[in-house]
Amino acid sequence: MGALAEPLLSVKSLQVDYVTSHGTVRAVRDVSFDVNRGEVFALVGESGCGKSTSALALMRLVPPRGRTSAGHILFDGLNLQDLSERQMTLVRGKQIGMIFQNPLVALNPVYRSGYQIAEAVLLDNVSRQEAWRQALDIMGSVKIPDREERMQSYPHELSGGMRQRVMIGMMISRAPQLLIADEPTTSLDVTIQAQILDLLMDLKAKNNMSLLIITHDFGIVADIADRVGVMYAGSLVEQGDVFSIFENPRHPYTRLLMRALPTGTKAEGRLETIKGSVPSLVEVPAGCPFHPRCPSVREICSSQPPPEHEVRAGHPSPEHGGPSAGHSPSLDGPSTGHRVRCHFWED
Ligand SMILES: Nc1ncnc2c1ncn2[C@@H]1O[C@H](COP(=O)(O)OP(=O)(O)OP(=O)(O)O)[C@@H](O)[C@H]1O
Ligand code: SF4
Ligand SMILES: [Mg+2]
Repeated sequence: MGALAEPLLSVKSLQVDYVTSHGTVRAVRDVSFDVNRGEVFALVGESGCGKSTSALALMRLVPPRGRTSAGHILFDGLNLQDLSERQMTLVRGKQIGMIFQNPLVALNPVYRSGYQIAEAVLLDNVSRQEAWRQALDIMGSVKIPDREERMQSYPHELSGGMRQRVMIGMMISRAPQLLIADEPTTSLDVTIQAQILDLLMDLKAKNNMSLLIITHDFGIVADIADRVGVMYAGSLVEQGDVFSIFENPRHPYTRLLMRALPTGTKAEGRLETIKGSVPSLVEVPAGCPFHPRCPSVREICSSQPPPEHEVRAGHPSPEHGGPSAGHSPSLDGPSTGHRVRCHFWED
């Protein structure tokens, strides 16, 4: 067997602080993950846990009051931290695309949607006529009906789903290797949500793109992700391939998020909620940040931050009998990339 292919994106020890009048918000703390070529990696977690800030940091778009540091942010072998602003603008234009959480904010309200896609195409130094023609094609590939008419519409004249399609069109016009999609379907109704996800998956397959999708919805993770990272209060508390995480979740927060999933069999339709709320990131609880809400909390949790543990293949899940006496996880099967930050991950 040859060596494993390098990941397309490798993030090591990412940290972002916002300096505010209320104190320093540590929005992202010691976050490390990889996105492999051609895969869908999902970052999932409740509101305010640092998902968007992580994505902005990768793009070097954190607002000025934010301070970013990282061991590395390697994209296709290049450390993005070392690039000049001009080089970074080229990376953003060509290699990494980002769909922002609110398309209405990201799109320019005074330009027609066709013009905005054509502008993105013009970065390739094609003629205006050619850019307009390509923009029309792109409107077709993102399945916007009545394309010619819609090319002339301003963003506020489009529905939420259409605006999202225009955003996606602008991004894929650059044929990026990596597309970051921050909550691309949150404000849309379920039918449109499914259409946008299908569209993203089609484009991903067609362009052999990697997708970093940000969501608070574990249902979306189950539907489209290959691997998932679960964030809580700025930290990545568990990550691994979707199969391993769904079969054998090790972090109490992941388990609770998964239990909150509607299963279709719950005729009563009630979702379980997680008690308490995400802490202020100005004063994150000492020890494990999840301890005030954790159903499995013990004494050590409020004083000692849990280190990261690796869950090896073959480590039995609690549902399948739990770890046997004398069980040594380090002697289990090969590494699966499943990692967890919890003192009692083996329980
Ligand atoms: N520009 C900013 N200035 C100060 N604090 C900020 C700024 N942007 C985000 N934050 C804070 O950083 C933390 C992480 O925010 P972020 O937007 O990254 O979370 P998120 O997981 O994307 O949430 P959501 O699901 O609501 O989009 C929050 O506490 C938020 O209040
Ligand atoms: S370290 Fe303790 S508080 Fe944190 S998730 Fe694990 S059991 Fe819960
Ligand atoms: Mg966000």
